[in-house]
Amino acid sequence: MLISGRGSNLAALLAAARDPVYPAEIVLVVSNRPEAAGLDLAREAGITALAIDHRPFRGDRAAHEAAIQAALAREGVEIVCLAGYMRLLTTFLVDAWHGRMLNIHPSLLPAFPGLDTHARALAAGVKLHGCTVHLVTQAMDEGPILAQAAVPVLPGDTADVLADRVLAQEHAIYPLALRCVAARVPGVPAPAEAALRNPIGPATPPGTSSRSGPFPATAPPPAPRHR
Ligand code: GRF
Repeated sequence: MLISGRGSNLAALLAAARDPVYPAEIVLVVSNRPEAAGLDLAREAGITALAIDHRPFRGDRAAHEAAIQAALAREGVEIVCLAGYMRLLTTFLVDAWHGRMLNIHPSLLPAFPGLDTHARALAAGVKLHGCTVHLVTQAMDEGPILAQAAVPVLPGDTADVLADRVLAQEHAIYPLALRCVAARVPGVPAPAEAALRNPIGPATPPGTSSRSGPFPATAPPPAPRHR
């Protein structure tokens, strides 16, 4: 996992991966910011956590990415998850991880790529906002969508309030999307439950499970676990 900050999505993936049938294992966390709180989270969970600071590379993005790539190779990583990794990637890493690099973005892409998504959503007056997990391609915040969750924008919302509402959904869909990719579920990147997940309305009658999509019934056998 590549991070730059607090690591709440990292925590969500760590929690999901504790389930023995989850098809992925978190083996390495790399941050370009040594002070990232997510590094401590990873260490507390017994995961190798490395700070690979971009600053000593003085703008040589490819060299910084080569250092990251070497760490990923050392750990035998098979899938890379970006979770609040605040560096633009060069073609070097993007091409190396084609189809095996995921990102989470706090908007319903293709709306609001880039920064300050919650403030921009409020300014635009949208009534629905949300988050997206997608495969990483060269263009920023583009690439095939794996999972989305929508939340309502409510009267009186501030960017922070909206961010919290979206973040709760990020923590739900990132583990789901990684599970689909890691397990090579047929039909990826269109996991039905992930694509349709909507926390707003009662999707199911009271007393029945809200997780009524194709999972876990169609989930494949647990092995192999991807690193
Ligand atoms: C999340 O909102 C994610 O969507 C965005 O950066 C934030 C990272 O938060 N890309 P955290 O570090 O996972 O808590």
